[in-house]
Amino acid sequence: MTNEDIFKKLIAHCKEYGFVFQSSEIYDGLSAVYDYGQYGVELKNNIKKYWWDSMVLLHENVVGIDTAIFMHPTVWKASGHVDAFNDPLIDNKESKKRYRADVLIEELLSKFDAKADKEVEKAKKKFGENFDETLFRQTNPRVVENLKKKEEINVRFVKALNDNNLSELKQIIIDNEIVCPVSGTKNWTDVRQFNLMFSTDMGAAADGALKIHLRPETAQGIFVNFLNVQKSGRMKIPFGIAQIGKAFRNEIVARQFIFRMREFEQMEMQFFVKPGEELFWFNKWKELRMKWHQALGMGNHKYRFHDHEKLAHYANAATDIEFEMPFGFKEVEGIHSRTDFDLAQHQQYSGKKITYFDPEQSESYIPYVIETSIGVDRMFLSIMAGAYCEEDVEGKDGSKETRVVLKLPPVLAPIKLAVLPLLKKDGLPELARKVIEKLKFDFNCQYDEKDSIGKRYRRQDAIGTPFCVTIDHQSLQDNSVTIRHRDSMEQERINIEMIEKIISEKISMKELFRSII
Ligand code: GAP
Repeated sequence: MTNEDIFKKLIAHCKEYGFVFQSSEIYDGLSAVYDYGQYGVELKNNIKKYWWDSMVLLHENVVGIDTAIFMHPTVWKASGHVDAFNDPLIDNKESKKRYRADVLIEELLSKFDAKADKEVEKAKKKFGENFDETLFRQTNPRVVENLKKKEEINVRFVKALNDNNLSELKQIIIDNEIVCPVSGTKNWTDVRQFNLMFSTDMGAAADGALKIHLRPETAQGIFVNFLNVQKSGRMKIPFGIAQIGKAFRNEIVARQFIFRMREFEQMEMQFFVKPGEELFWFNKWKELRMKWHQALGMGNHKYRFHDHEKLAHYANAATDIEFEMPFGFKEVEGIHSRTDFDLAQHQQYSGKKITYFDPEQSESYIPYVIETSIGVDRMFLSIMAGAYCEEDVEGKDGSKETRVVLKLPPVLAPIKLAVLPLLKKDGLPELARKVIEKLKFDFNCQYDEKDSIGKRYRRQDAIGTPFCVTIDHQSLQDNSVTIRHRDSMEQERINIEMIEKIISEKISMKELFRSII
């Protein structure tokens, strides 16, 4: 199965099992906008809790806030979003389809890598164990030629982006004969800048209405409240402010399911530090954030850092945490050292002093900022992609069956426990209900009595439930049940009183947190 097939299956699974639905589906949907279903919302809430508590419970110098989506229009002028939050877009005149010029070129560049990889794969098969891949890549004329061509285009591309040279971007597309995937033609418009912010009018009268933007990031709500929080909370530097909330971007190319959405959710934390100490804190947060991801047990090899070579003019360090999605390693989180850019801009545009008086140094300064910024939806996608498994298992009659199982970290699973009476009679449902009544205050439980026990196990596997408890006739006699573990499918007989302890240990965030501090 190709990665593309796996991704298609994952998307279908998300819909079939109530994780993610296309928004307004009965009206044929709204592009790049999604709704979360009954299990999706539980998983999403658990992700948010894992993040929130890891910020505000584990760090006594990090506090949370919740700011409005609408903000004064000057906020976006000061932050640079009005003038510079743009993507270069290009239209194909035949198909009338719109593309990001930079994405078309990036896709071309990745084709050169793919061609080189194909040559390597062919040679690997031909030469077997004696194959020296490094030497082959350095000497095979076809591979060398491909990589050289790629590098030439890349140099032009990076320069065009740095110079903001839109006509050069178009020229790269023309020179390399990039065609529209829909019309197959090279009939392109010029490249133009396109601002990604949505706008709307606030106020009743059309002529007196104020044009405002839907926030494209939650961070600015934190910056404009820096002094409110610092003063009201008597916060001392270094300290952080965390926020979870919706953000909106009018993405030109919205693809890859919930990876790039027009309405999405961010979890951002701005950590305010003394100027000169920012790189120490940047490295500290880099390490802490990677630990947070890896503690979930999806496999450390699935994460990597991607340090930015090209930095925004106000940043002095930046890195992404990438996860191996079915379509390659992709950014899930950004960690940026943003200097004093944002606070200084707001000070200038608002005319209000935004400084911190450092009692130890007896001096005032504008703090520097380390930002950690992660998309809830991307995190959700990474967890679903890492958890989705198809396994060959033996069916009832000895035949082979495929088991689809979501190996979600138990701490994030939407349902923690399914309680299943073996039969719908003889007092078994009543005992099952009693178990749920007792445990429902501690974790999300589900009762299911329909179909064979095997089918019920499969349904729970498909939504990632880590434990199933089965009530049978023996349970009535000796108060014992079988508990089935999702990943190993192993079953053990335990006393009913033990259920809570076994599950609590496995789904405890406390244990995860202990491993990351
Ligand atoms: N305040 C900094 C900031 O917003 P960003 O790299 O543009 O930085 C941060 O976004 C994170 O937000 C990304 O790493 C990603 O997880 C998420 N994100 C950004 N655009 C998104 C989109 N269109 N759809 C889903 N998630 C998105």
